[in-house]
Amino acid sequence: MSTILNRDTGAERIAPASVELKAGVDGISLPDPLGFGNLMAPIMALAYYRDGAWETPRLTALEPLQLAPHAQALHYGQAIFEGMKAYRNLGALFQSPSLLFRPYDHANRFNRSAARLGMPAIDEEVFVATLEQLVAHLDKLVPDRHAQSLYLRPAMFGVTDHLSVTPSTEYCFVVVATPSDAFFTTPIKAWIERRYSRAGAGGTGCVKAAGNYAASFAAAAPLREQGFQQLLWLDANQRTHLEEFTAMNVFVRWEGKLFTPPLSDTILPGITRDSLLQLAGPLGLVMEERPIAVAELLAAIRAGADIELFGCGTGSVIASVEALGDETGMRVNLPPAVVAPTLRKHLLDIHHGLTPAPKGWQWPVGTRKQA
Ligand code: PLP
Ligand code: COI
Repeated sequence: MSTILNRDTGAERIAPASVELKAGVDGISLPDPLGFGNLMAPIMALAYYRDGAWETPRLTALEPLQLAPHAQALHYGQAIFEGMKAYRNLGALFQSPSLLFRPYDHANRFNRSAARLGMPAIDEEVFVATLEQLVAHLDKLVPDRHAQSLYLRPAMFGVTDHLSVTPSTEYCFVVVATPSDAFFTTPIKAWIERRYSRAGAGGTGCVKAAGNYAASFAAAAPLREQGFQQLLWLDANQRTHLEEFTAMNVFVRWEGKLFTPPLSDTILPGITRDSLLQLAGPLGLVMEERPIAVAELLAAIRAGADIELFGCGTGSVIASVEALGDETGMRVNLPPAVVAPTLRKHLLDIHHGLTPAPKGWQWPVGTRKQA
């Protein structure tokens, strides 16, 4: 068994994930169309936190977990997750077969989510090494096509079987994987949500708490039947300004600039959002973080202004919005996207190793320096 070295210092950190496999990936063929989350990889990574320490994550067959019916996460929602991707390396910049996108940034956000919910941190090196090892084992399930990926879902939840309203003392860390298309492959319709809120000041909106998503389900379900795929949330206090979509940050192209709402404790600091902000300058785009008033935006769209709206996130990459609606019966169509397709292609080229990117964004799987 080899030893993992710290990415910056080269110092020895931990033993890598041990392997305990009862399942293989041979013989699995990818469905066409692939869709999202339809085929779960038969192998997952798993580790438990007990007596104040994490055990070494291991790869094991994807099978149901044993969980007490009074496990903490089931009653009090002490559960978090991340959404990440491994892309097939389609370029010549790296030697490895696949690339993780900004894995240390996801590890860091995972730990911020954990801290917010009173959960233990997991060593970032262990987190990334575990993902690398999982992806290496699942290499046959990393799709070869541009824009497809092996979607990775690290999650952590409290498993202590006690009903006291206190943090769990035992946790489960699991990473499951699914070869997938982007969530949205065509422009979407978004519903401006005026009744419910996603996040309140001081709440958990700025981390990936599982409950944030459950809280959107009641609002979203009836809208899906009307063809709306995402809720576009407004600030909880005034309901006047855009915050983000249920699973994406929001950008608006308006008067030659790209705007996105500034981060706050009610907006998830998206890694895709940050990537776009960093790429704007080199791509000759002017991007600004600034509050976006929904009334002003709708008035401008109705007046025929040249406006483009899109969401961005790991699962979706970049999804253009073709129409907006809300409970007042308001319906507006947006003109065809101009910038979003260019940004999407550029970002995907980075994901697939076809275009260079800032250090740490393209993380080659399987080339970690070994002791
Ligand atoms: N906002 C929310 C609420 C999300 O769930 C996501 C997806 O993870 C995003 C934004 C985009 O974040 P990222 O780009 O890090 O995937
Ligand atoms: C992702 O984009 O990866 C996410 O985690 C969003 C999730 C709600 C599906």
